[in-house]
Amino acid sequence: MTDTQSERAVHGQRKKSTRRYLMCRPMYFDVTYSINAWMNPDRPTSTQTGLAQWKGVFDTLVDLGHDVRLIEPVPGLPDMVFSANGALVVDGKALVARFRHPQRRDESSAYLDWFRLDKWSTVRQAEYINEGEGDFLFTGAEILAGTGFRSEPRAHDEVREFFGRPVISLTLVDPRFYHLDTALAVLDDGEIMYYPGAFSPQSRGVLAERFPDAVLAEEADAAVFGLNALSDGRNVVLPRAATGIAARLRERGYQPIGADLAELLKAGGSVKCCTLELRE
Ligand code: ARG
Repeated sequence: MTDTQSERAVHGQRKKSTRRYLMCRPMYFDVTYSINAWMNPDRPTSTQTGLAQWKGVFDTLVDLGHDVRLIEPVPGLPDMVFSANGALVVDGKALVARFRHPQRRDESSAYLDWFRLDKWSTVRQAEYINEGEGDFLFTGAEILAGTGFRSEPRAHDEVREFFGRPVISLTLVDPRFYHLDTALAVLDDGEIMYYPGAFSPQSRGVLAERFPDAVLAEEADAAVFGLNALSDGRNVVLPRAATGIAARLRERGYQPIGADLAELLKAGGSVKCCTLELRE
């Protein structure tokens, strides 16, 4: 670790910053189609259980003092609970998603309407396939951008131009980790954790060089979606089953908070997928 990072890691020194998130209650949650390796429509799902587990995360974020806003769920859009995919919002500008699969395409207009009604000044839909914070993660300086399964490389250029921020392209290679936020999480400004096996050798090189102090996850933690985590700089909400990575986070001075989102995992999503950060 660098000097500043080890200083920051001294227990109790990690500072939370209050965030604003957009979430969507999983009123119509179900697995009725399969667009990723986790989804099996033949396996029964319970909307009730999904709602209760989602509420656990919602309550945790509210209790931590964050400002959680809600977007109205739309019948017939069972994946809308994964609000991370709705847009990328940085510097008060919102670039709304363009989904790869037809089953999710109608979510975009709901997000466009939400941002317009909420009076965000710069709002438009992406021109190229772009699944929002599923594939684009802001480190506080640059934007890490995933491709390989969902968002297309041209979307990375579009994001660079729209936000005027540097973009680092990363290629995902393991179908279990089809969005960047299933394999990598930003913990604090410039600090990340990730599962190297989800990335191409070239992208692993890029990550190792840019983030030499990153927390590296083992496959067992990645496989229970342990990287699909949400950090406020101190508290890291992540799937409860990811015990290995929780221990590593504790060593670094973070406060891991376990959540049970097993029902939503049947659709290939967990904590981070359910939250979209709204950055002024
Ligand atoms: N079923 C959804 C899909 O495949 C899950 C999305 C999960 N969201 C995320 N940010 N990784 O599109």
